[in-house]
Amino acid sequence: MAIPQHTIDQILDRTDIVDLIGQRVKLKKTGRTYSGCCPFHQEKSPSFHVYRDKQYFHCFGCQANGNAIRFLMDIDHRNFVDVMKDLANQTGIELPKDNQDNKKISYKREAAKPSTAPNFTAPSKTPDLNQNDIAPEIDPFEAFSQYPDPEDFDPTQFNMMSDQQIPQEGNLYDLLENVAQFYEKQLPSSQSAQQYFKHRGLGKNTIQYWRLGYAPEDWQHLEKAFPQDIEGLRLLGLIRTSDNGRDFDLLRDRVIFPIRDSKGRVVGFGGRALNDDIKPKYINSPDSEVFHKNQLLYGLYEGRKERAQNWLMVEGYMDVIALQQYGISGAVATLGTASNADHLGILFKQNNQITIAFDGDIAGQKAARRTLEIALPLLNDGRELKFFVLPKEHDPDSLIRKEGVESFHRLWQNAPLLSDFLFALLSQNYEITTPEGKSQVMAELNQLIELLPKQGSYRYLLRQFFREKLGFNKKWQPQVSLDATLSFAQNTGNEEFAIAILMQHPFLYIHFEVLRAFIQPNDFIAQILTIFDVIFDDLPDDQELATYYILGACSAYHLQLSEIIQRTNIQALTDSPEMADKLASDYSLALQEKYVKQKLKSPSSLIEMRNLRRQLNELTKKISLKLVHS
Ligand code: UTP
Ligand code: MN
Repeated sequence: MAIPQHTIDQILDRTDIVDLIGQRVKLKKTGRTYSGCCPFHQEKSPSFHVYRDKQYFHCFGCQANGNAIRFLMDIDHRNFVDVMKDLANQTGIELPKDNQDNKKISYKREAAKPSTAPNFTAPSKTPDLNQNDIAPEIDPFEAFSQYPDPEDFDPTQFNMMSDQQIPQEGNLYDLLENVAQFYEKQLPSSQSAQQYFKHRGLGKNTIQYWRLGYAPEDWQHLEKAFPQDIEGLRLLGLIRTSDNGRDFDLLRDRVIFPIRDSKGRVVGFGGRALNDDIKPKYINSPDSEVFHKNQLLYGLYEGRKERAQNWLMVEGYMDVIALQQYGISGAVATLGTASNADHLGILFKQNNQITIAFDGDIAGQKAARRTLEIALPLLNDGRELKFFVLPKEHDPDSLIRKEGVESFHRLWQNAPLLSDFLFALLSQNYEITTPEGKSQVMAELNQLIELLPKQGSYRYLLRQFFREKLGFNKKWQPQVSLDATLSFAQNTGNEEFAIAILMQHPFLYIHFEVLRAFIQPNDFIAQILTIFDVIFDDLPDDQELATYYILGACSAYHLQLSEIIQRTNIQALTDSPEMADKLASDYSLALQEKYVKQKLKSPSSLIEMRNLRRQLNELTKKISLKLVHS
């Protein structure tokens, strides 16, 4: 059974690791963490820690570590799917049930009637299912997917029926593929459809690439072409029944955009009128057993096939297609619905930084605000959002045609990060030179900040950023000597940067707390992290106060700290909240990798060695992913 990542995330969200492990291990709260005796090796004094914020456990003794799923797999020696079934039960979240679904994607075919007019017989070409073409999804449990699963069998890959022995069962995916080919085949015989695409500037290759087609005017063309598949066509919503009981085609005299799922299978169609006076302009086939608009993005399959790096959410089919024709892959559109959290989640799986394009009008601004509210809760783990507000009267399609690809790229690159966008959005409604205006902006910001993930550091950074922009208070300034910038590159290690970031942005501790599991206790950074661990929960919300608080708590190290702050010139490096967050997470990963490698040189046991190796693998993967994306 393939369990989609968003289901795994959902289940993990509803599982509390402290409660779960607490049922098996006696845990005691110590500082920021819960600790107890490790269930994975023999020990008398507790070195097993559970982090509620991170939903993560770690044993300092044997280096066992992971999330709730890993814990159950390791402690009971069970496989991934088995554990997931259990957790799904406990959390009340349903796992996909593939074998039942296979029944739903089939329908009853009618027997062939020899007397009917010649059918349209599409060559039974199977959709492009080459998995190698698809960028790998990140699956933390890859190591456990070696159990072959019979339910993963995909019937569309084995289309071996001969024309004579027509089976009684039809498969919706096969039918959709045949209908797509039917529409494609109609295009050459429609002057008006060809003319339409030409008028929209689409070349022959583009039309082929997106498999664009044409649905004829005839009210029953699908029925005639697929007389045995009426039930299937009804299930797909491509044939509808009128009040007086007559069947007719959903899409007539429209150019056709076949919609492919992430595996490249055709799952639905969009049809556009050839003339702007015809309403509705677009008709999309309705949701069906194989077509779920809320979880699909037009262009995702194609973008992944082309290994797109930069993903851009646009509004319409034509935007996606025009951008691709100009060489920009990675544009995706929702299918006539507003974008939701699932859509954004899918995009964030492609890259940590995504851009959303909006029209430059009032409607676009409203849409931006709505999307913002959906996106904010998703902004964890270094995710970044950019807002590409298009010039007035333009959508991406018209903009790239008018201005060309370079200018489009330039505008996209200059699109503001969330922090700047948010400031512009909120401050435009108030007189921000007055104290009243300032506090109104802060009040609105605070409401939006409530939507950010609780565990994240971004909320603190954003608040600080606004305070500075509004000129609320002078920020604590580390004293930087003039030649500091010259010397930091050679003399300063990653540890020093980590410490400097922490002093400047105490809330970024949540990126570094995992380090405590690896560091030698006498290292300077270990001592600083221990202080943070003790006082972190009590830090005042205000960034500036928090910094003073930390400085007080670390007063014993005053001299070392001020030297580090000078050497690193950290304030200049962490100007934008996004940059600070990214630096913190980069340094934390680099340090984790360094310490795990160190430990691997002299592991104390076989178990520890195995755990460290696994960890190193995961870290290396994460780091290389970051490199690819940055
Ligand atoms: P727009 O109406 O903004 O137009 O629809 P567009 O994409 O610029 O279309 P063109 O360029 O005139 O062809 C944006 C998207 O909203 C959905 C479609 O998915 C469309 O691509 N839509 C629009 C509908 O589903 N139904 C409609 O009637 C209109
Ligand atoms: Mn348009």
